[in-house]
Amino acid sequence: MTKRDLPLKVIVWGTGSVGTEVLQTILDIRDDLEVVGVRVYSDEKVGVDAGDLAKRSTQGVLATTNSDDIIALDADCVIYTPRKASLDDVCAILESGKNVVTTAFLFHPRRLDPADLARLTAACEKGGVSVHGSGLNPGNLSAVLPLALSGMTRSIEKVTLQERADWSVYESTEITFNNMCFGQPVESISPTANEFLAFNSSLFSEMVWFIADSLNADIDTVTADVEAIAAMEDHQIFDHLLKAGTTAGQHWRWVGRRGDEELVEIEALWTVGGEYPGHWPKPQDGWTLTIEGDPSMQVHFISLASFTREVPLEDHVHAASVATAMQITNAIQDVCAAAPGPVTAADLPLIRSYGGFGNTPRAELASR
Ligand SMILES: NC(=O)c1ccc[n+]([C@@H]2O[C@H](COP(=O)([O-])OP(=O)(O)OC[C@H]3O[C@@H](n4cnc5c(N)ncnc54)[C@H](OP(=O)(O)O)[C@@H]3O)[C@@H](O)[C@H]2O)c1
Repeated sequence: MTKRDLPLKVIVWGTGSVGTEVLQTILDIRDDLEVVGVRVYSDEKVGVDAGDLAKRSTQGVLATTNSDDIIALDADCVIYTPRKASLDDVCAILESGKNVVTTAFLFHPRRLDPADLARLTAACEKGGVSVHGSGLNPGNLSAVLPLALSGMTRSIEKVTLQERADWSVYESTEITFNNMCFGQPVESISPTANEFLAFNSSLFSEMVWFIADSLNADIDTVTADVEAIAAMEDHQIFDHLLKAGTTAGQHWRWVGRRGDEELVEIEALWTVGGEYPGHWPKPQDGWTLTIEGDPSMQVHFISLASFTREVPLEDHVHAASVATAMQITNAIQDVCAAAPGPVTAADLPLIRSYGGFGNTPRAELASR
């Protein structure tokens, strides 16, 4: 357990939707954290002040694309949120003595390729620090919530997490069409179709292993399969035309089995254009977590900008990025205090909102 002085010095690595929420939160309400560096990828952000990137006051910290300069900084923790995750980068950060919280990967390191796990663990030990991957899903809904609910069960037969979402409202059409392959021929969609689909699929497989490992399922395998569905008609999605006959639906299943028994399942029912195949299961939009056991239980989760105020649709859509960002930002102090090594929701205390209702004076918050 490492005791670090407050404020903790932090670096924000990646300033997309999630990273910007992290940056704004730190500048607005986290007197226990001080931003000392910002790593970006876009040329137009180089040399821009952290405050300007977050639409806040000037901080005197300029963004850079130079990883070596960032790693050379003195800091307690890196908040790592790039689009493409790099184990090399994370190991270099850890070796330099900085903890890492990330939304991009490392959600259940124990099930990494053994050579990668050995590297990651050695980097943590060399730096005397920890790494924690989390977010919304993968993250809270596939790690914290199943464990929290399981506290009310005597025994478990099956855990199922269903995610139903229509991606038409997501402005990042590069991810929807290039990475996730919507709009491409249905025959071209598979768990190994390209590097991104394989990586994305591996993250959800990791979460199945996490639930199984944390709840004594002793599974043998996790399988991934996907059914792609063709659009019945054309759909204009922001700047992109999704053509009739190309992929408009993907039904993914990641299943953990012990022998022939299906014990843990994560299911994704993803569409673009709003056509919903009649033969697919029909959970509500959002996430439905079901524990079949003694007793059985089910919760439905959805995050919006507000349930009471009128807000623009884009704010509702953005709520998922806020939730993702907060899950790791709220974990920073606990990750910095953890024993060196990879840590998951099964190792950390229950992560709570740092600011909460916001009624505690700032100085008191920082000394908590
Ligand atoms: N666990 C979860 O629940 C969850 C939920 C949502 C997202 N995520 C993950 O969180 C990460 C950030 O998501 P986001 O929604 O913020 O994405 P985003 O808005 O698309 O932001 C993209 C980020 O990637 C950076 N980037 C640009 N080119 C890159 C490259 N060649 N290699 C690596 N990074 C590059 C951008 O750099 P700049 O700073 O220059 O803009 C920006 O920081 C992603 O890994 C995403 O998969 C996880």
